[in-house]
Amino acid sequence: KMRKVVSVVGAGNVGEHTASLLAIRGLVDVRMFDLPKRDGERLIEPVKGKALDIQQMLSALNIDGRVEGYTVSPEGDGYEALEGSDIVIITAGFPRRPGMSREDLLDKNIGVLQVITSKIKQYAKDAIVIVVTNPVDLMTYAAYRMLGFPKERVIGMAGVLDSARFKTFISREIKVSPQDIHAYVIGGHGDEMVPLISISNVGGIPLKDMLSKEKLNELIKRTQFGGGEIVDLMGTSAYHAPAASIVEMVEAIVTDNKRILPCSVYLEGETGEYYGVEGFCVGVPVKLGNCGVEDIIKIPMLPEEREMWQRSVESVRRNVKTVEELLNARS
Ligand code: APR
Repeated sequence: KMRKVVSVVGAGNVGEHTASLLAIRGLVDVRMFDLPKRDGERLIEPVKGKALDIQQMLSALNIDGRVEGYTVSPEGDGYEALEGSDIVIITAGFPRRPGMSREDLLDKNIGVLQVITSKIKQYAKDAIVIVVTNPVDLMTYAAYRMLGFPKERVIGMAGVLDSARFKTFISREIKVSPQDIHAYVIGGHGDEMVPLISISNVGGIPLKDMLSKEKLNELIKRTQFGGGEIVDLMGTSAYHAPAASIVEMVEAIVTDNKRILPCSVYLEGETGEYYGVEGFCVGVPVKLGNCGVEDIIKIPMLPEEREMWQRSVESVRRNVKTVEELLNARS
């Protein structure tokens, strides 16, 4: 097999756009998996239609690559084509419905994850798994536990997106290409995420020397609520930038380029006091390559950043127990 295969489970807004961008990059073959949908009386297979549409887009753009769509059942039928996947991306899940508690949602999405992870174990036990479904740090942890894969191969996507949002706002404020902006956002993927200002820079010049404290705080706030801003405008959560962020991670893995990207990974105290996290997943800068997470980068933090870090980690930790209870109830 010459070309790498990337499977996308859940071909909703994020999954579909991920498949499309991956195909346009021309680096990999793409397989999409999703449930059938109902169109009045008729049962339809949107995932097959989306795959065909993307395949035809490639012909129009003169790009090579194969894109296939597979209809699956909630019980786990139809996943045979996961076989041979080098990377599996999980975006499947339900959004929160009125009247549903966070815990109900968590349990429902863990149920979805349980079926999908069992199929990944069955058909693609050597794959690297990228988890996108929210709440991503908890879902990545649940996937890690259910897969039983080495921690290097279970990676949550959040930090790349949060950092892209931060870079967007910085870029527009100081009118410099985002390519020349280095800014990492780490911690839990929530309102308390941590932009590492002390090491952020624009063309090597510290960010804090280029923007007033007030402006900087404004951009940080906007980044922290970056997802919500888009939901408020669009009525659904974002998908272009999330898809692009996933593609960035996939590219680092398949080309083995060793990029440093903030990702949610399982920490077991290997950084000691440094990040001080043991037994769950949270966003830290990691080196990505062929094997998945190849290293965890210890970025120096100022005392106030460390304080933010602790708060953010705590907000993830609070819910880990709930996830553990839900996992135990299911095993
Ligand atoms: N098996 C396979 N696919 C499933 C299953 C299942 N058991 N349950 C749901 N799906 C599919 C849905 O059919 C839908 O197409 O997952 C897809 C989810 O897509 P959307 O509802 O459009 O959600 P999206 O905006 O793509 O977000 C997906 O990523 O960023 C996160 O918070 C976001 O958790 C959400 C996820």
